[in-house]
Amino acid sequence: MAKEDTFKKLVAHCKEYGFVFQSSEIYDGLGAVYDYGQLGVELKNNIKKYWWDSMVKLHENVVGLDSAIFMHPTIWKASGHVDAFSDPLIDNKDSKKRYRADVLIEEQLAKIEGKIDKEVAKAQKRFGDSFDEKQFRETNPRVLSNQTKYEELHTRFAKALNDSHLDELKQIIIDQGIVCPVSGSRNWTDVRQFNLMFSTEMGATAEGASKIYLRPETAQGIFVNYLNVQKTGRMKIPFGIAQIGKAFRNEIVARQFIFRMREFEQMEMQFFVRPGTELNWFEKWKETRMKWHKALGFGDENYRFHEHEKLAHYANAAVDIEYKFPFGFKEVEGIHSRTDFDLSQHEEYSGKKIRYFDPDLNESYVPFVVETSIGVDRMFLQVISAAYCEEQLEKDMRVVLKIPPALAPIKFAVLPLVRKDGLPEKAREIISNLKFDFNCQYDEKDSIGKRYRRQDAIGTPFCITVDHQTTEDNTVTIRYRDTMAQKRVAIDKLGNIIGEQVNFKGLFGKI
Ligand code: GAP
Repeated sequence: MAKEDTFKKLVAHCKEYGFVFQSSEIYDGLGAVYDYGQLGVELKNNIKKYWWDSMVKLHENVVGLDSAIFMHPTIWKASGHVDAFSDPLIDNKDSKKRYRADVLIEEQLAKIEGKIDKEVAKAQKRFGDSFDEKQFRETNPRVLSNQTKYEELHTRFAKALNDSHLDELKQIIIDQGIVCPVSGSRNWTDVRQFNLMFSTEMGATAEGASKIYLRPETAQGIFVNYLNVQKTGRMKIPFGIAQIGKAFRNEIVARQFIFRMREFEQMEMQFFVRPGTELNWFEKWKETRMKWHKALGFGDENYRFHEHEKLAHYANAAVDIEYKFPFGFKEVEGIHSRTDFDLSQHEEYSGKKIRYFDPDLNESYVPFVVETSIGVDRMFLQVISAAYCEEQLEKDMRVVLKIPPALAPIKFAVLPLVRKDGLPEKAREIISNLKFDFNCQYDEKDSIGKRYRRQDAIGTPFCITVDHQTTEDNTVTIRYRDTMAQKRVAIDKLGNIIGEQVNFKGLFGKI
């Protein structure tokens, strides 16, 4: 199946089963804003728990915070967001559509990469087991020619971004013959910078109101609380502050479902370290965060690090963790060495000393910061993309979400085989005993096969079937979602069997 088809099906599946809805749908929707339905919110909460516990429970030197969305407007001046938090945009004069110039060029790079991958895949098919991919990549003339094109374009693009050379970005688009996907024309405007922050006004009267911003990242709430947490928590460097919360960006190009939204959620951790040690910590957090992703079992080959073409105004090192979505490798998480930029700026703008007295060095300094920053919604899309499977069975087809059990919205469903003979009552009794420990569902409608399919489609790892034997010996069958294998077990063992599979310990053991 074409990858675009998979993605379309995935989006439709998210709506059909109550994971994600377009915001304000009955009013024809609001661009790039989404709501999470009854199952979506459970999956989202489980993702947040996986991240939160892995930060705050697994590290005794990382603590949490929940800071406000509204903050003093000077914070955004100090952080550089008022002056520099912008994207280069370009319009097509024929379609009147607006694009991010850097994204158009990135897509061109991905096209060249795609051509190389296609050559490799073709050769792999032709040569079978004897295929030496490394040698092929190093010698095939078509691959080499595309590789050179890729590298030349990449170097030119990175330089234009780093120099903030907007005319050069436009020239690249023209030289590459990039056309507007809607009009098919090359009739482009100049490239302009566009600030991504939403603003509003706070205050009772129009005259007295002051302009404030909806935060475009949660990180600044952590920086401005650094002293509060360090002092009240008696934290010693190195230590981290973790936060989960909403962020807002007026994205120019908001596409690909929940991948790029205007209102989204971030899970960020700022790790405060001694100056000069930040690049070691940067490497450590890169490794830890990659392990966190890979522990979910979605295939190590589907992740890669991507060095930034252009470092953000606050960073001296930065890398993305990319996941292979149905539309290609894309950023899920950023790890940034933010130096002492933010704390120093807040020192300057607030006039307050933001220092750490290091008893080992007997001196005070502004700590350096390594940040890990991941979008909850992008992580959600990663989980759904990786989990979505269409399986051909002997007689029919099933759609199954192979969500890791710890993250699954519903852990098990209890299904009485028939709606009589005391089976529904027995099924309800099982739920009453286990509902405080697990999210579970009762379902008695339709054939057992249909009920299994419904649970497969929402990723429920276990189905418990209550039949006539249950009333005789207090046993039930447990059906495993991924293998569809069934086992007869005693009801009083269910809590342990399910508990072992759905807890987070197994995942944490791999980090
Ligand atoms: N504090 C650093 C920071 O915000 P970023 O790379 O701009 O860095 C971090 O964002 C993460 O937030 C991204 O890796 C992505 O997962 C998520 N994110 C950013 N913009 C987003 C958007 N418009 N929609 C959904 N998620 C977004």
